[in-house]
Amino acid sequence: MEPLERKNAELLALFEVSKVLTSSFELKKNLFQAMKLLSDYLDMRRGTITLLDPKTGELRIEVAYGLTEEQIAKGRYKIGEGIVGRVVEYGSPMVVPDIGKEPLFLNRTGARIEKDKISFLCVPIKFKEEILGVLSVDRIFDESISFEEDLRVLEIVASLIAQTLKLYRAFFEEKTKREELEKELMERYHFHNIIYTSAAMREIIKTAIKIAPTKATVLLRGESGTGKELLAKAIHFSSPRGDKAFVAINCAAIPETLLEAELFGFEKGAFTGAHTSKKGKIELADGGTLFLDEVGDLPITLQGKLLRVLQEQSFERLGSNRSIRVDIRIIAATHRPLEQMVKRGEFREDLYWRLNVVPLFIPPLRERKEDIPLLVDYFLRKYNQLYGKSLKFKPETVEYLMHYTFPGNVRELENLVERLVLLTEREWIEISDLPFTLNMLDKGLPPSTHSKEKLNSPYNLKKQLESLERERIFQVLKDCNFNQSKAAKLLGLTRRQLSYRIQKYSKGQF
Ligand SMILES: Nc1ncnc2c1ncn2[C@@H]1O[C@H](COP(=O)(O)OP(=O)(O)OP(=O)(O)O)[C@@H](O)[C@H]1O
Ligand SMILES: [Mg+2]
Repeated sequence: MEPLERKNAELLALFEVSKVLTSSFELKKNLFQAMKLLSDYLDMRRGTITLLDPKTGELRIEVAYGLTEEQIAKGRYKIGEGIVGRVVEYGSPMVVPDIGKEPLFLNRTGARIEKDKISFLCVPIKFKEEILGVLSVDRIFDESISFEEDLRVLEIVASLIAQTLKLYRAFFEEKTKREELEKELMERYHFHNIIYTSAAMREIIKTAIKIAPTKATVLLRGESGTGKELLAKAIHFSSPRGDKAFVAINCAAIPETLLEAELFGFEKGAFTGAHTSKKGKIELADGGTLFLDEVGDLPITLQGKLLRVLQEQSFERLGSNRSIRVDIRIIAATHRPLEQMVKRGEFREDLYWRLNVVPLFIPPLRERKEDIPLLVDYFLRKYNQLYGKSLKFKPETVEYLMHYTFPGNVRELENLVERLVLLTEREWIEISDLPFTLNMLDKGLPPSTHSKEKLNSPYNLKKQLESLERERIFQVLKDCNFNQSKAAKLLGLTRRQLSYRIQKYSKGQF
C-alpha cells in the first residue's frame, strides 16, 4: 500500500469501527465486526480482544476474528503471563516483530502454526487509568511496515473499545438494578404468587402478612376456587415454619373411618388391615403447618377429637394410649356457612371458636372485578410459556370477562385462559373465542326461559321467532361441540352472524 492510500484506509477503518461499536446492544457482535474491519481495511490478520475479569483477575478472549471457537476457549491468561498478561500488567503496548523468535509468546490458542512469518501487536484497552483488557492483532512480518504507525491506529481503536465497554457495562448495571427493584416490587404486590389489586384482597394480604409469623390459627372462608389453599400456603411459607412441612388434608374427600386414621395415624393391629403402624397427618405436620381443608365437612365425632388436639397439642395414634406431643400451626378452610351449621348443631361451637382466631374471608371474584385483568395477564403469561405460545387478549375480550360472574372463581378463570391458549390459532384472543358464553347459554336457556317467554307473550311473533332461533342455535352448537365455525355452516350463517347472535342471546346471563 502507498503511504497516502494507507492513511486513507486507516481513517476509513477508524470511522467504520467507531460506527459499528455503537450500532447495537449486542456487544460481542459489535466487537467482532470491529475486528473484521481491521482485517479488511488494514490487512491485520487475527484480531483478538481479551478482557480482564476484575473479580477473578483472569484474562479471557472475549472475541476474536480469525480464530475458531476452540482456539478462543483456550485463550486464558493470568496477569503478567505471556505478552497479553504483560500488557495488562504494565499498561503499555508491546510489539513482537517475529513471534517465532520470541520465547514470551505462548501461542496458547495454538492458532499460529506459521509462527516465523508473523508479527504480533498488543495494546491495552484502557479507560482513564483502569485496564479493561487487551487488543491484539497479527500482521504478516514485513520489515518495511512501521510498527509505530500500526500501534497508533490500534491505540485509537482500543480507546474506542474501552469507551464502548464502559458505556455498555454501566447500562447493564443500571438495567440489572432496575430489574431487581422491579422484581422486589412485584414480589411485594404478588405475595407468594397471589395476584391482586383490589382493596379487599389488599386488606386480606395485609392481615396475612401480619399474622404469618405467629402461630395463630387461621380460618379461611370463601367460595370454591377463590384461592384459599394458595393463601394457606403463602402464610405457611412466609412463616418461620416455612422450611418445615405443610401438610394438607381434605376433610370432605375421605370417608369418616379413614379420615380418623389419616389424621391420627395408627399402631399395628389397631384395626383389621393395619399390618404396620403409620404416622397420621397431625404427626407429619409436627413443627410445621396442618392445613385442614373443607373443615366444615369434618364429621361431628372427629370434631371433638380435633378440638382436643388443638387444646392440648397432643394426641394418640389409633390403637395406642401413648400421648404424642406435637407443635403444629393450624390453618383451616371452608366454603360452608359454619355459623349456620353451629346453629343447626352440625358444627361444634367450641371448635368453631378455636378455629376462628384469625378469620379471613376471600370474596368471590365477581366482587373484586379489578383483579380480573391482572389475573388474565398472569395466567396468559404462565400458559403462553408452558405451551410455547404468544397469544394476546384483545382489550375488549378482557372487558367482556369483567362482566362475567365466574361461579368457579379464579380456578374457572385460570382454566379458561389455559384452554384459550391451547385452542386459539390466531394471535389475538377475541370475544368470539370465549367458550363460556355458550356455557351460560347452556345454563340459562331452555327449557325454562323458552317456555316462560311463550307463556308471557303467546301472540308476539318476533319473540317467538327469536326464542326459536335461540333454541335452534343452541342445539346446533351443542351438536357441534361448540365449534362455532362448524355450527355457522350448518345454520347457514357466517361466523360473524353467528357470533353476533350468540352475544345477543347470551345477554342477561352476565
Ligand atoms: N389471587 C390469585 N392469584 C393467582 N392465582 C390464584 C389466585 N387465587 C386463586 N388462584 C389459583 O386458582 C386455583 C384455585 O385456587 P385454590 O385451590 O387455592 O382455591 P380454593 O379456594 O382452595 O378452592 P376450593 O374451595 O375449591 O378448594 C389455583 O390454581 C390457584 O393457584
Ligand atoms: Mg381448596
